[in-house]
Amino acid sequence: MNLYDKLIEYSRDDYYPMHMPGHKRNAAFSMTNPYSIDITEIEGFDNLHHAEGILLEGMEQAAKLYNSKHTNYLIGGSTAGLLTAIGAAANKGDKVMVARNCHKAVYHGIYLNELHPVYIYPQADTHFNINGGISPEKIEELLIKHKDIKLIILTSPTYEGVISDIPSISRIAHKHKVPLLVDEAHGAHLGFHTGFPDNSIQAGADIVIHSLHKTLPAFTQTGLIHVNSDLVDYEKIKKYLGIYQTSSPSYLLMASIDRCITLLLDKRKELFDRYYNLLQNFYDHMKALKNLKILFPDNIKNYGFYKFDPSKITISVKNTDISGIKLYDMLLKEYKIQMEMVTKDYVLGMTSICDTTEGLHRLSEALLDIDKKLESISAIPGKHLTDKTEVPEWVMSSWKADNCLQESIPLTLSEGRISGDYVYLYPPGIPLLVPGERISKSLLEDIYSYQREGLHLQGLQDEKGQYIKVIL
Ligand SMILES: Cc1ncc(COP(=O)(O)O)c(C=O)c1O
Repeated sequence: MNLYDKLIEYSRDDYYPMHMPGHKRNAAFSMTNPYSIDITEIEGFDNLHHAEGILLEGMEQAAKLYNSKHTNYLIGGSTAGLLTAIGAAANKGDKVMVARNCHKAVYHGIYLNELHPVYIYPQADTHFNINGGISPEKIEELLIKHKDIKLIILTSPTYEGVISDIPSISRIAHKHKVPLLVDEAHGAHLGFHTGFPDNSIQAGADIVIHSLHKTLPAFTQTGLIHVNSDLVDYEKIKKYLGIYQTSSPSYLLMASIDRCITLLLDKRKELFDRYYNLLQNFYDHMKALKNLKILFPDNIKNYGFYKFDPSKITISVKNTDISGIKLYDMLLKEYKIQMEMVTKDYVLGMTSICDTTEGLHRLSEALLDIDKKLESISAIPGKHLTDKTEVPEWVMSSWKADNCLQESIPLTLSEGRISGDYVYLYPPGIPLLVPGERISKSLLEDIYSYQREGLHLQGLQDEKGQYIKVIL
């Protein structure tokens, strides 16, 4: 069966999507025959890289919706936006402050520009074993210590919906005249309703990146880059968009962005009122759970989060007799609910204005049903990479490390050597090592303890995780 036939077959089945894209394959968003409107830059249809007609108008509408100074379309997802923003806001070799839990696109931006990152770790959450927010005080400490930092790069919200205190972080960054780039890939829906936190544009960030496709009704790959201050050279942003985005942007993708923005300009109040009530109802039903635990938006102070995005549904299996993987499989096979993501401790669902009452009802009934069959067991404490984690010593840029001769050696012989690759622990999705960092004794002890817990580390050189790539 080819891919197209498989997609058609899947679309006819009744699996409910608790995952991206945010249009949720909802029939209300159907389009005409896509081939009939797939064009190139012909007369009257403008040119994304030199927009002055219909595409410029569309981008101005997007800027109006988000109240941003400048907004441009992304048709290579937030990935293209992050590469663009980093290229434009930092010069080669600059020192930048980076949240260690940033997406790999940020690491790629650092690589391409041979940047010197100063890392900041998110706060730990031991209830759900997810990354918390970034502390404004720690940001200020680092800005005072490293006066040559040229850019701050953070992710907010996280995949699981944790939002950092961007208003305070923006104030601190601006006091030090450093621009703040927020990867808000998961937060394009924020700021439109009092039940959802503000977005980072409202909170004062200088550059904000949105994936429209993750949480709003738009095709996969679509996004927006917002530039909201004079600390960033907008001409450079446009230059880098020309470098990182295709010279043949899809009019289908751009039309999908335009439709999404028009829909929100016209109907956001009614759409978000309905959506918020749907979520409220869902969370109310979930109060009956006895064994599974849900990250309740109204409970976030207990977890020490600044704010939380209620669109993300995190269901923890901690202290129950099943794993996250088992819960994910049960939801898929027994209830035909396809979740977004799974770890050993929790399952994550993504919602949007396109969710149906039936869909969220199916999820709540399924969870209540599964919950009844579970037993609770006592907690097994685990380790978490936190703001207390020792930051590995930076020796050289990841670009330089990647371009050195390398060898694969046993972990046991690697103390003091410089890593040639990323070593990841997922969750929480924070690299233990980045190419160019020194492998310390305490880091090796951490790696061995994760391995004793049975956790899988990505980036080691063999199945058993005993070899590591280092530079010669
Ligand atoms: C936090 C974060 N930033 C950026 C991206 C990249 O977004 P895109 O897939 O739109 O390129 C992702 C993708 O999952 C993400 O989770």
